[in-house]
Amino acid sequence: MKLFSNAEQIVTCNTNGVNFKKDKDFSELEVLTSHAIIVENDLIKDIIPNQSIKNFSDYEIFDLKNKIILPGLVECHTHTAFAGSRADEFKMKLDGVHYEEIASQGGGILKTVNAVRNISLTDLVELIKPRIDEFISQGITTLEIKSGYGLNFENEIKLLHAIKILDELYPIDIVPTFLGAHTFPKEFRENHQVYIEEIVNKMIPHIAKNNLAEFCDAFCETSAFSSEEVDLIFSAAKKHGLKLKLHTEQFNNIGGLDVALKHNAISVDHLEVLKESDIGKLADSDVVCDLLPGVSFFLNYQFAPARKLIDAGVVVALSTDYNPGSSHILNLHLIMQLAALKMQLKAEEIINAVTINAAKSLGRNDSIGSIEIGKKADFSIFNTEEYPDIIYNVGRNLNCMTIKNGEVIYQRV
Ligand code: NIG
Ligand code: FE
Repeated sequence: MKLFSNAEQIVTCNTNGVNFKKDKDFSELEVLTSHAIIVENDLIKDIIPNQSIKNFSDYEIFDLKNKIILPGLVECHTHTAFAGSRADEFKMKLDGVHYEEIASQGGGILKTVNAVRNISLTDLVELIKPRIDEFISQGITTLEIKSGYGLNFENEIKLLHAIKILDELYPIDIVPTFLGAHTFPKEFRENHQVYIEEIVNKMIPHIAKNNLAEFCDAFCETSAFSSEEVDLIFSAAKKHGLKLKLHTEQFNNIGGLDVALKHNAISVDHLEVLKESDIGKLADSDVVCDLLPGVSFFLNYQFAPARKLIDAGVVVALSTDYNPGSSHILNLHLIMQLAALKMQLKAEEIINAVTINAAKSLGRNDSIGSIEIGKKADFSIFNTEEYPDIIYNVGRNLNCMTIKNGEVIYQRV
């Protein structure tokens, strides 16, 4: 057995069995002092006051003096599986060209699609590895990765295979999402129906049969898929047992939200242009709103109405949306800091958003996302004595140790 003792704080994100946070609970955080965590195998066996520890010799001891323990961070929305660079487009953006304008000229997502189609599976896996190492160094123990830069059968499957290989190679859990409906590939720009049939009749059945994805996502946007098209794709995905997520209300409101709610999607992501009149619909459901402040920051664009959503009682999570075009930000801590500085979230809300609520966004909140007896022993250890320091140290990574399933998988000396 292992004993994680002497930490200045254990930030548990305990929900007393609810396994997500909204309303008043979202701004609250259980913080234990003078407590230790007992881990047996991969699970939290007990959380006890320091003074009640008896036989120290029973344990392998981790002395966390001057440090704090948080649940392993959960990164619930990324496009980490990409090849190539879009630095040239970043320069265009700095010169004032809009993200959507670049996309309509054949750049944007389609530029990355070209790079992905031209790389081998082995090289792709090698390319992604350092990105995963970087997430782990920040205390992330569960990481969602989407496909979406292949946009044909062969290359979407190649991306999902790469994600599967990485999940097997790395100790963290990597959650695969199929995003074949990211945008229309060049060859089907004028013939949406053929590409949708390819997704519905070929890609989804193959992916489901071979367990290559847990979620199906889509981009509901004027430049990508209409709500009717998403409806067709979601119906097929559901029929094959995939859970649903949707990129929606990023630049336009074209009905994505209603389709997502109709199909009981587990999350709706982006919401930068969410209509105020739609907030009630979200509050009436327990759909998770994955907010992505890095995108607004990177594109110099409006932020999602986070405060209004939280005050209405919506379930809110936060994520990097790490991708080469709209949020080239491989840093969940910076996202947490942006949420504070640009979306007016409180430190407690931010921590709940990247732990228990992000776990709900991945449908894994019954086993991860908080430090509670019986849950997985996934921890992020920070080199500080108080949790608000994580937000205050803008641009710095205070994580010094990452524990997954009770094992130390990263340690900074
Ligand atoms: O979440 N909105 C669509 N997809 C990504 C951007 C992907 C890209 O530009 O490569 C996003 O922002
Ligand atoms: Fe995204």
